[in-house]
Amino acid sequence: MRLDRFLAETGFGTRTEVKKLIKQGKVTVDGGLATKAESHIYPEKAEVRVDGVLVRYREFIYLMLNKPDGYVSATWDKKLPTVIDLLPEEYAHFEPFPVGRLDIDTEGLLLLTNDGELAHRLLSPKHHVPKTYLAQLERAVKDADIAEFKDGVTLDDGYKTLSAELEGFTVDGEPWAEITICEGKFHQVKRMFEAVGNKVLYLQRVRMKNLVLDEALELGEIRELTEEEISGLKN
Ligand code: URA
Repeated sequence: MRLDRFLAETGFGTRTEVKKLIKQGKVTVDGGLATKAESHIYPEKAEVRVDGVLVRYREFIYLMLNKPDGYVSATWDKKLPTVIDLLPEEYAHFEPFPVGRLDIDTEGLLLLTNDGELAHRLLSPKHHVPKTYLAQLERAVKDADIAEFKDGVTLDDGYKTLSAELEGFTVDGEPWAEITICEGKFHQVKRMFEAVGNKVLYLQRVRMKNLVLDEALELGEIRELTEEEISGLKN
């Protein structure tokens, strides 16, 4: 890989900006001063330093966002803020995108990555990746709802969902539920509750496959996934 591309991809600015860094004598490769932006290096092997600080090359980034209400799960929107607006500057050059969609008013776990292959696998209807949500409801879950969700619920468009796990509980006397679904139809959780004459008042995703929403993340905060979390998603 060309040195200027390596530095641009690791977040040191545009090609022009990184050329300047090289000219200023701030970049070393394997201990020697780098003088040519177009010189080639092995990105995984070369010891590249900028101002003496080792630069770690990586192609992919994996981020967990605790999505707040009011943000669209997209990279761009004509009018509304998107989850990309919450991205710290240091990750922007990776150009991550949200893996799947949460409704604008749904909060909680959203994975952002630039690893298209992993995103494709997690979203593929073939793979039935489980996703768990907590929902505040208009009325308490009945045994009949649990049985219906287990069998599959027929939605307003006639589609019968795959089996879903449902459990009701209360928080300060208010009815809530935990629901796990293995597909991702449009507004699926809200429509499933509507199909049994209930209504979702608030929705939060707390889990996707092995990935559990980090309780230490405030709404709007982002952190990188750990190696263990990444390998769990890939396996
Ligand atoms: N189901 C919904 O209804 N909304 C979401 O945001 C996610 C799942």
